[in-house]
Amino acid sequence: MQASEAEKPRIVILISGNGSNMQAIAEAVQNQEIDAEIAGIISNRPQAEGLSKAQAMGLHTDIIDHTLYVSREEFDHALIRMIEDLKPDLVVLAGFMRILTADFTRYFEGNLLNIHPSLLPKYQGLNTHQRALDAGDNEHGVTVHFVTEELDGGPNAIQAVIPILDIDNAKALQQRIQIQEHIIYPIAVKWFCEGRLNMNGQLAFLDGQELPTSGIQLHS
Ligand code: GAR
Repeated sequence: MQASEAEKPRIVILISGNGSNMQAIAEAVQNQEIDAEIAGIISNRPQAEGLSKAQAMGLHTDIIDHTLYVSREEFDHALIRMIEDLKPDLVVLAGFMRILTADFTRYFEGNLLNIHPSLLPKYQGLNTHQRALDAGDNEHGVTVHFVTEELDGGPNAIQAVIPILDIDNAKALQQRIQIQEHIIYPIAVKWFCEGRLNMNGQLAFLDGQELPTSGIQLHS
């Protein structure tokens, strides 16, 4: 998982669906906002819309269909091998809707980022927008964090915070959150690729400074 000094960091992005975060990151690389190389896009769903987006951008794509594996462990080990073939420095989960085994998360720990649509540690798991509404929260958001064994539990790198409006429903929140996702995920990937963002001992650091539990917060 180490690039030689002459090489750009290699990014592998895992998707399951639409791939809009993958696209935002890949565009930032293609526009040279991030000095890195997209080594490949991997989907666990053969029909993921993100695959055609990646191909249209000229990116290498691989499919690993989880339904063809008898156990989560076998799937994850095959996935590790597929990722390793692409020689990554950073693995990015971008709407990759599979729970990963501890073998997988430990293997890539420190080099594995995820985006989750809530202000973690609030609302780990699913239906985050509706849960924020049901709780009567007045703000909501999205988090990029390092992945550890605990589901949606690793140290936060960056969050975007948005107000919840009286007229909001889950769909409206989801749409406003996605706009923020496409801003903060490329920022976190850029920081990582520049060697500014790292994880050490279950804590996240930016420029050598330990980040607060929330990570860096952007408010809009
Ligand atoms: C994103 O909204 C991301 O936050 C969410 O899936 C969506 C993927 O969108 N991830 C999770 O819920 C992870 N628990 P995309 O495929 O368009 O990038």
